[in-house]
Amino acid sequence: MSKAGGEDLDKKTAAKELIRLAAEIERHNRAYYVEDAPIISDAEYDALFQRLAAIEARFPDLVTPDSPTQRVGAAPAAGFAKVRHRAPMLSLGNAFDEADVRDFVSRVRRFLGLEENVPVALVAEPKIDGLSASLVYERGRLTQGATRGDGSVGEDVTANLRTVADLPKTLAKDAPEVLEVRGEVYMTKGDFQSLNQRQEAAGQKVFANPRNAAAGSVRQLDVSITAGRPLRFFAYGWGEVSAPLADTHWAAMQRLRGWGFSSNPLAQRCTDAEGALAAYTGVADRRARLDYDIDGVVYKIDRLDWQARLGFVSRAPRWAVAHKFPAERATTLLEDITIQVGRTGSLTPVANLAPVTVGGVVVSRATLHNEDEIARKDIRKGDTVVIQRAGDVIPQVVEVDQSKRRKGARRFKFPTTCPVCGSDAVREEGEAVRRCVGGLVCPAQAVERLKHFVSRDAFDIEGLGGKHVAAFRADGLIRSPADIFRLRDKASEIEARDGWGAQSVAKLVAAIEERRRIALERFIYALGIRQVGQATARLLARIYGTLAYWRRAMDAAQDPDSDAYRELVAIDGIGPSVAADMIAFIAEDHNRDVLDALEDELDVADFVPPEAASPVADKTVVFTGTLERMTRSEAKARAEALGAKVAGSVSAKTDIVVAGPGAGSKLKKAQELGVEVMDEEAWLAMIDGG
Ligand code: IVH
Repeated sequence: MSKAGGEDLDKKTAAKELIRLAAEIERHNRAYYVEDAPIISDAEYDALFQRLAAIEARFPDLVTPDSPTQRVGAAPAAGFAKVRHRAPMLSLGNAFDEADVRDFVSRVRRFLGLEENVPVALVAEPKIDGLSASLVYERGRLTQGATRGDGSVGEDVTANLRTVADLPKTLAKDAPEVLEVRGEVYMTKGDFQSLNQRQEAAGQKVFANPRNAAAGSVRQLDVSITAGRPLRFFAYGWGEVSAPLADTHWAAMQRLRGWGFSSNPLAQRCTDAEGALAAYTGVADRRARLDYDIDGVVYKIDRLDWQARLGFVSRAPRWAVAHKFPAERATTLLEDITIQVGRTGSLTPVANLAPVTVGGVVVSRATLHNEDEIARKDIRKGDTVVIQRAGDVIPQVVEVDQSKRRKGARRFKFPTTCPVCGSDAVREEGEAVRRCVGGLVCPAQAVERLKHFVSRDAFDIEGLGGKHVAAFRADGLIRSPADIFRLRDKASEIEARDGWGAQSVAKLVAAIEERRRIALERFIYALGIRQVGQATARLLARIYGTLAYWRRAMDAAQDPDSDAYRELVAIDGIGPSVAADMIAFIAEDHNRDVLDALEDELDVADFVPPEAASPVADKTVVFTGTLERMTRSEAKARAEALGAKVAGSVSAKTDIVVAGPGAGSKLKKAQELGVEVMDEEAWLAMIDGG
């Protein structure tokens, strides 16, 4: 595993890692913004984002315009027409404590070059936990409603937003001709609960929280469904306007209210950072009693001319910041600690809790992250624990209430075998995660491993994609990789499946047969050993040459005092960490069984070194005169080894004459015939590659 900020990556690996991270972030963006069903916690998302940003900071020329750092949220979902925002809809930077807020104001002062005695007024508004929307009014009528989407392009949800009860249908005459109002669509906690009751009674999906309910309701292709959902709207700003609204944010918001938009009644105008912090405390105190979810307070520089000068940095304005509330906490009983095995074999401990409500959501499981975390917090089964949830999907255990520990509670012993398949679970030096090494046999990982096994750079079996492998595995046709090569015995079973026929099965069987003979490097790569990618697999194939020799060497390398181990770690590009992964793989009985079974089915070809591109291959060479660096016979042998023909006399067929001191008639003849002549040094430089 490489370092969190990618400090140990070279540019090529960094480029690859950026692509991987961007894809993963994009997947989570979709889950969060489009499907309203987040998969990971905010903290985990932030970690991915920060890693990507850190790598980009080290390699600025790898930043692409569609990098997540250059965009906000997710591209619009299919199904709605797309809308390009006339002014981008941005995101907000975060402040997590008072110092961050004071820093924000100081940065603004520095940026604007303000003297200490010039007051910087701010507006502090609750940060509404809903979904942002843009509403374009032209000549007083709502002409377009859109979601934020990725910040540049959102979804056209005009018809849906027209159903929001507290939006003005028309605006008074003094409104600018074009007015784009921005704000948050939300659902009250009370409405959310009754909606869920109705949904449940009707056997429909219930929503996890008011935010998801609001987002899911806006994104209904059938507007009549949206109309039946109790949506509301708080305006908090504006986008495109044909005439300025006011000189300050505060005054502009008053004008919006005058035209009939709701804005949050807890907003306050403050004269400085300390006033803003006091407003924060006031809002935080009232939070639990509010009938809608808020997740912090947003501070905005009040003067609009200053906002304009401050501008934006990539995704967020310099003139605003979100001060987040700390995570909500609760105390409960930790009933058990169980271990989950992920698709990559990582063992993650999970706290099974007596159900408890945290921030309005019933929680019965929390992540314990990893082995060290449990040890560090000394978390034991039966403990009373404090858990927290910060707008998070996965709550976490913060600490143990030691005073409530039962007598005889034992320290948790992290398993050293995989709870799913029984293979060893090993933890490498410097790594936090323990992993199951039964990659090819562990049911928790098997599908992913099998997909890798048949992937393009591995076995690349035509007509047998990842999807087929997953389906075949689910139905027991394939359990381990060698089963793929026994599929020909199951032809009738495959033929009976949907979408298969005699012909396609025959084709598949033929494609599988074609791959029974495979290059050693592909074979090693296909095994899916951690950290053994294509380049490493090729390196191993080149160095060990044959499958038998590689396996013997890996077996022997399990002893760290062996020559085999020393040779392995000495290979440029391997090192102790990769070696440890290979040894862990080979040491696992299950994996050895898989290798044995594959060897029975396959013919793994020995490594064939690529033809050395020799500059003298097929050339006819004549040596004449005295050679100073080697004997005549050595010169001849080397030339022949490189594919040259060595002749004793010069003719029209001669390509090169290597002439040393004392060369006579042969040199003369070469010159007459126009044959290329060089001295011994030039010859050596050429055959040694310069
Ligand atoms: S101002 C240019 N004010 O928070 C910045 N945003 O994290 C515009 N939000 O996308 C945002 N309440 O959906 C602003 N009072 C408020 C807000 C608020 C909620 C949301 C909004 C935005 C997100 C940024």
